[in-house]
Amino acid sequence: MPPVVDIRALHKVYEEGPMRVEVLRGIDLEIAAHEVVALCGPSGSGKSTLLNILGCLDRPTSGVYSLGGRDVSTLDREEQAWVRLHYIGFVFQSFHLIPDATALENVALPMYYAGVARGEREERARAILGRVGLADRAEHRPNQLSGGQRQRVAIARACACKPRLLLADEPTGALDSRTGVQVLELLGELHREDGLTIVLVTHDMGVAAFAERQVHLQDGVVVDERRADASSG
Ligand SMILES: Nc1ncnc2c1ncn2[C@@H]1O[C@H](COP(=O)(O)OP(=O)(O)OP(=O)(O)O)[C@@H](O)[C@H]1O
Ligand SMILES: [Mg+2]
Repeated sequence: MPPVVDIRALHKVYEEGPMRVEVLRGIDLEIAAHEVVALCGPSGSGKSTLLNILGCLDRPTSGVYSLGGRDVSTLDREEQAWVRLHYIGFVFQSFHLIPDATALENVALPMYYAGVARGEREERARAILGRVGLADRAEHRPNQLSGGQRQRVAIARACACKPRLLLADEPTGALDSRTGVQVLELLGELHREDGLTIVLVTHDMGVAAFAERQVHLQDGVVVDERRADASSG
């Protein structure tokens, strides 16, 4: 099976007036189908920048990103949105739920954009909320939910359109450690049951240990890679 993610010589430069910041400086990265990868590294090393490019929220300045065999490095905004909707789920540290919408409505929204009919949207949203253990919270708004519950809603939303690639930027960063473990267990379940490929960004080596492979970034380059069952190398 070809890799889900195949990145070659990826660079990202931010330029504004006289300011020029080279944030990613030649990244090569392959991620196989069904793999769970942790992106680690110090603050400012480029983790979120790379994750945003992986998620087609941003584009590289140069280099090639192919997602499921398709070059997505140069898509326009509309094409990026289409790829995000159909291939990618995104989970953020601070959940990014719509405050005025219920859990059910939050989960159903991406399906609305994907053109799923109303009845089916609701049915699927309820089923996914059930899977993340929130069947009895479907009508609650985010401010009526705990942090861990909000993150489970966000994960349910990210999975609503059955993505191949689930991207998570510090998904446990706003949670206490016990709730964080529950969120990781949920991601592990989705990985096993749906064959999701997962890339998560973390500072926390305990969270990184959840992944099968750790990719360490520093100053915009990959400085180390290690597998869960092997030592550095
Ligand atoms: N829009 C931008 N314009 C200029 N520089 C930027 C922009 N976005 C990010 N940067 C710079 O890129 C570098 C990497 O940022 P990034 O957010 O990817 O780091 P990170 O590894 O996710 O850090 P953290 O762990 O703190 O979240 C930082 O030095 C940051 O200042
Ligand atoms: Mg970041």
